[in-house]
Amino acid sequence: MGHPKILLTRRGILRAGAWSIGAGLAPALIGCVAPGPQWRQNPFSLGIASGDPVPDGFVLWTRLAPDPLSADPATPGGMTGGAVPVAYEIAADPQMLDIRRRGTVFALPEDAWSVHVEIGGLPAGRPYWYRFSAGSAQSSIGKTMTAPAANAALPRMRFGFVSCANYEVGYFSAYRHLTDEQPDIVVFLGDYIYENFGRRPGVRRHSDGVVASDLRTYRNRYAQYRTDADLQRLHATVPALMTWDDHEVQNDYADDLSETFDDPATFLKRRAAAYRAFYEHMPVRPSLSHPDGPTMRVYDRFAFGDLIEFSVLDGRQYRSSQACYAKPNHGGGHAETDASCPERRDGARSMLGMAQETWLFDGLAASRAKWNVIAQDVLMADLRERQPDGTIGYWTDDWNGYPACRARLMQHIHDARVRNAVVIGGDNHAFWANDLKLDVNDQRSPTVATEFVGTSITSFGSNFEAYSSWLPDNPHVHFYDSRKRGYALVDVAPERMNVAMRVISDAADPNATLSTLRNFVVENGRAGPIEA
Ligand SMILES: [Fe+2]
Repeated sequence: MGHPKILLTRRGILRAGAWSIGAGLAPALIGCVAPGPQWRQNPFSLGIASGDPVPDGFVLWTRLAPDPLSADPATPGGMTGGAVPVAYEIAADPQMLDIRRRGTVFALPEDAWSVHVEIGGLPAGRPYWYRFSAGSAQSSIGKTMTAPAANAALPRMRFGFVSCANYEVGYFSAYRHLTDEQPDIVVFLGDYIYENFGRRPGVRRHSDGVVASDLRTYRNRYAQYRTDADLQRLHATVPALMTWDDHEVQNDYADDLSETFDDPATFLKRRAAAYRAFYEHMPVRPSLSHPDGPTMRVYDRFAFGDLIEFSVLDGRQYRSSQACYAKPNHGGGHAETDASCPERRDGARSMLGMAQETWLFDGLAASRAKWNVIAQDVLMADLRERQPDGTIGYWTDDWNGYPACRARLMQHIHDARVRNAVVIGGDNHAFWANDLKLDVNDQRSPTVATEFVGTSITSFGSNFEAYSSWLPDNPHVHFYDSRKRGYALVDVAPERMNVAMRVISDAADPNATLSTLRNFVVENGRAGPIEA
């Protein structure tokens, strides 16, 4: 991981005792470490976050950014100089009186002065509160949790899942309402930022009005999103599980192939910058996710007692290129028929890459959880898009572009008798509730899993008239609606899962109100959504 000097320094400090906060500055700990800065502007302008809860710990995140949108590449977030010590405290109470853990880490220039504190050794299954301090500044207090022990009987759990939060086209009221529902965790399924900007004027502009394409512009894009008060409050009070979709890098990219046919080596440099900026802003574990050039691992597995296990997937980094991608003007996703693109059905193609497929299949087979959620970026259900000439098209950027990979997954869920498999996704800017069939070409074949897709936080909905016209050819789709923005709220118990499709009144209204579009349940032992 390669910061030997810093790590030695940090070990020295930890041996010497915690960096003291509040009353005065720390004593001279080590010659090369200065006391923390006296800030003129709040360095915690991007808020605080926690994520990746496991039975004995979690990750705490912050990034020092006194000038969060600094345009000078030499001063990310308004920071200059070297490493800055950041102290953290973890308490058993919201007033931070009963401190259970404290320590100091270093915010490093190469990480844009972000910190990721990987906590272990805490008791399982309870809430914790936390805060940071650096020099003269102290953060607000956040709330997080340790996951229940792996075999503990868990009677219920609540989680939200969210995707597609375009800052320009709406306010983050959906994030605000989700926070108010106090879920145990929130699962981000991608398009957390948009690297591009809209042709249509929105309600607010990305700060720099450019397409994010290098480290400075990706960092500032994340920073701007994180200055949003609704998003800050969600992160401060609800631990996150994170994955990404395409817009964290570029629309419809696939591994090293860009939508715009960039030279792959050039595109991988861009991807490296995008992944690094993602890492710098997310509460993910450095031991798993620290980026290495253009590669960064985000797929992971999280269990909450005996109730539920999440397999969080990466649908972008390892995928085969979109089928028939090489045709002129066909970068990214496009509709193809069997006649126009036989390649789409090639069994060697994978949405996940073979290493991740194997990891997923092994994990699902070994899981003893009552519910097994597969959290990923895009629509998985078969979707026949009847074209004007009567032929059937398939969209090449979602799982319809990777039907052999989807068939392998469905067969595995069936053969390994995976309990209560539920796929959740985003990307489509619409709510969906679907049966996932063992054989997509036979409607009488068993439904082996249930799929829910959540609508966007703000991004414009998918084409309601077009999609609605395709539904008669897709009887396994129980529900589709792209006309509202919002999120999905899921209440899980051993005998049933309830999925509430929550919608906001108007993404252009910063004070938008909340209502419920539909409720679906999945019953233990019976795949498929049932409208409640
Ligand atoms: Fe999106």
